[in-house]
Amino acid sequence: MLMTTKPMFDLAYGGGFGIGAFNVNNMEITQAIIEACAAEKSPCILQVSKGARKYANMRYLKAMIDAAVAENPGIPIAIHLDHGDTVDLVKTCINDGFTSVMLDGSHQPYEENVKVSAEAVKVAHAAGVVVEAELGMLGGIEEDVVGKNAEDYAKNLEKFLTDPKQAADFWKRTGIDSLAVAIGTSHGAFKFKDEAKLAFNRVEEIMKTCPGLPLVMHGSSSVPQEFINLVNKYGGNMPNAKGVPEDQIAMAVRKYGVCKVNIDTDLRLAMTAKIREVFATKPAEFDPRNYLGPARSAITEMVKRKLHMLNSAGKSEAVIKQWQKLGQPMPSYYKKTAA
Ligand code: G3H
Ligand code: 13P
Ligand code: ZN
Repeated sequence: MLMTTKPMFDLAYGGGFGIGAFNVNNMEITQAIIEACAAEKSPCILQVSKGARKYANMRYLKAMIDAAVAENPGIPIAIHLDHGDTVDLVKTCINDGFTSVMLDGSHQPYEENVKVSAEAVKVAHAAGVVVEAELGMLGGIEEDVVGKNAEDYAKNLEKFLTDPKQAADFWKRTGIDSLAVAIGTSHGAFKFKDEAKLAFNRVEEIMKTCPGLPLVMHGSSSVPQEFINLVNKYGGNMPNAKGVPEDQIAMAVRKYGVCKVNIDTDLRLAMTAKIREVFATKPAEFDPRNYLGPARSAITEMVKRKLHMLNSAGKSEAVIKQWQKLGQPMPSYYKKTAA
């Protein structure tokens, strides 16, 4: 069942679980995520980045997501724009039927971030769509945006983390529905040089200054070593890959107000490891179904593992009830475009 993230976060906040937000780029990834959620009776967020829109063409992506929703009426599903960079893109996504959007103005000066985020909220709320914004700066792709290198980032981590007081001001002035926080995670497969450490004290402080505001953790892949070993064993080259330990993610959703956990890299890893394995062990294989099929199954297993880590398995029914209780209509633009 298609819905916004509101009923999901209503239950996740303080409810000891988090919602996995998984990036979709093609049919196999979409099917794999949904198959895992259906098997585990878990709500999920299917998120589409600007790059995914460009790669797959939104019409194809949307048709696949619609098929996933129609095939699984018992699974609460939100369609979310990941790292939207302009209000125009937010508007386009709302018209494309997204139920949730992210306006990421975190790399802009604070006042500009407030301005574009508030604008996105105005447009989205008028259509019944919810908005995630970001404050602070993650490592990985975002540090490149401002030309910082990884070493600078690691050395000056404190100043890139989300400021709790600023978060309260930001929430008040924008009216956002959830906030992506910088607490030491970064995108991709190379998150930490040394020990993996997240600033949970920041999360506690943000929860104090912004009570009730659902928090979002980007860069939450764990980069499981066994998958790195497989990639490297079958011809890959990913030395020193490191992610956020799964017990830290589990703690973030059970103990803190982290309601949405973004995972992309681990799905890519599962897919790549399996395709490499098929190519290396069956060099005569050339039917794409015989490597994309096993890759799809590997992603399904990875997502199931995440749903247990997030403790969202078995939460579908409660989320659907919450959605019905809220009595919220489908986002209005969705109804218009879906006819
Ligand atoms: O935030 C980053 C996500 O992993 C999406 O990545 O921009 O390559 O689609 P992408
Ligand atoms: P990972 O690269 O850790 O999977 O993070 C994905 C993400 O944050 C997408 O917005
Ligand atoms: Zn992200």
